[in-house]
Amino acid sequence: MTLRVIAIDGPAASGKSSTARAVARRLGWAHLDSGALYRAITLAALDNLGEKAGEGGTAGEGWSAQRIVGLADGLPVRLVLVGDVFRPEVAGVDVEEAIRSERVTRRVSEVAAIPEVRHWVNVQQRDAALRHHAGVAGVVVDGRDIGTVVFPDAPLKVFLTASPEERARRRLAQRGGRVDPSELQREAAALAARDQADSTRAVAPLRAAADAVVLDTTRLSLDDQVARVVALARDRLPG
Ligand code: DC
Repeated sequence: MTLRVIAIDGPAASGKSSTARAVARRLGWAHLDSGALYRAITLAALDNLGEKAGEGGTAGEGWSAQRIVGLADGLPVRLVLVGDVFRPEVAGVDVEEAIRSERVTRRVSEVAAIPEVRHWVNVQQRDAALRHHAGVAGVVVDGRDIGTVVFPDAPLKVFLTASPEERARRRLAQRGGRVDPSELQREAAALAARDQADSTRAVAPLRAAADAVVLDTTRLSLDDQVARVVALARDRLPG
């Protein structure tokens, strides 16, 4: 049986999640945002292991791999299918909004670099996709390593890119209000730094799978990029 998974990877603010959500809606598939799991674990660590543990760049003893994974299992941190969307929960509470805070964003790369955490997240993702295999037509999964590590057999892998400036512009526009040039520059630098951290880490670095379709979206609208992925999906996963 063909694994009905579309893997969408790419750097921060490349429009992965918006694209994945819209593609899933157009195809009638479910959407799974793997970054949400890393963020939910980070939120759980911040709330239960102390904010100060990692000051100075690296996590303190309280943030050991064992304690973080133990916490994720115990609370638990998990994905729950609500309608056509997998939503992150911590101890039974929906945390979709809380995980987008600056407090979580600042620490999530550090947590996502821990091999045991990555293993835990990957098991959750595969379980979620397989458990619901009969109930949903397919799953669109977005992240950094979906096509390379989590679902290497996915019949369609897409790697989205866009310049740091364009990604910064989109991110600030999303927040609303006027965008001033110095803020734009700061945001572009912060995104470039996160790209660097995510693509040079030892485990599952951010990169396109050899058989991924690379889509540079710098000059594409969201509608255009969604249309291209949907066309690829209809071509490769007919029916
Ligand atoms: O896409 P995002 O900003 O919500 O992702 C949050 C963090 O999680 C980001 O620093 C990279 C990491 N991540 C990852 O390492 N692998 C994934 N599959 C998804 C996210």
